[in-house]
Amino acid sequence: MFFQRFFAMANYSFSSSPSSSSKTSIQAIYDICKKNLTPISAPPPEVIHELSSLLDTIGPADVGLKEEHQEDDRGHGLSTPNTFNRVDRWAQPITYVDLNESQSFTMCMFCFPTSSVIPLHDHPEMTVLSKVLYGSLHVKAYDWVEPACIKDSKETARAPVRLAKLVVDKVLSAPCSASILYPKTGGNLHCFTAITSCAVLDILTPPYEESAGRKCTYYRDYPYSSFRSGDEPVAGKEDEYAWLEEIETPDDLYMRQGIYGGPPIQI
Ligand SMILES: [Fe+2]
Repeated sequence: MFFQRFFAMANYSFSSSPSSSSKTSIQAIYDICKKNLTPISAPPPEVIHELSSLLDTIGPADVGLKEEHQEDDRGHGLSTPNTFNRVDRWAQPITYVDLNESQSFTMCMFCFPTSSVIPLHDHPEMTVLSKVLYGSLHVKAYDWVEPACIKDSKETARAPVRLAKLVVDKVLSAPCSASILYPKTGGNLHCFTAITSCAVLDILTPPYEESAGRKCTYYRDYPYSSFRSGDEPVAGKEDEYAWLEEIETPDDLYMRQGIYGGPPIQI
């Protein structure tokens, strides 16, 4: 009941399956993914283009979200088996909604309460398309400097830090174009901060799969000046670089599972 209210259905009829002539946008996106994405190879540019063009056209109603309901849900004291992690009883959870999971790709949504954060994390060997459906989201994203520039600390117990370059630091406000990150470019390591209540539709390909080396790792970033020694391969402004330290999954990452309430997706 709680999720049904949160993910209220938009103005869709669910009484019949969509025919090919009235295929929904989300079905069209799914069909492209199913036809073209694989567990092992990066999607070709024409598929990326096709997907991002379709993502550019969709909004919250296309996936069953009603923007005006988002602030109704404060998440106070929520405790369910689907809660991934608890912080305190006043925190508002980020809601994760799984639309489809396969060996080739994941389609999912994140619904953020205002000021909530998905901390800096990576997408190893993955391509990710993201579309802000409503609201405003700050994105800060890095790519690793190659070849790897790593500083070990001999004096402290601190973990090694690795040099990264800032490639995105901006607010995305709907309606806006889809953004794309690649294994080595486009901001593969990123942090999301909700400026307002907002939602993002993600397509990840291939999906996270720890046994295949695609594990989600979290990081803390330090200013370049923190560990500068002067011999780093830094070009341009120093404030465009940072040192990233691998950390455990942050305790204050508070997520719960939501239920998809949009148009049915025929698998
Ligand atoms: Fe991400």
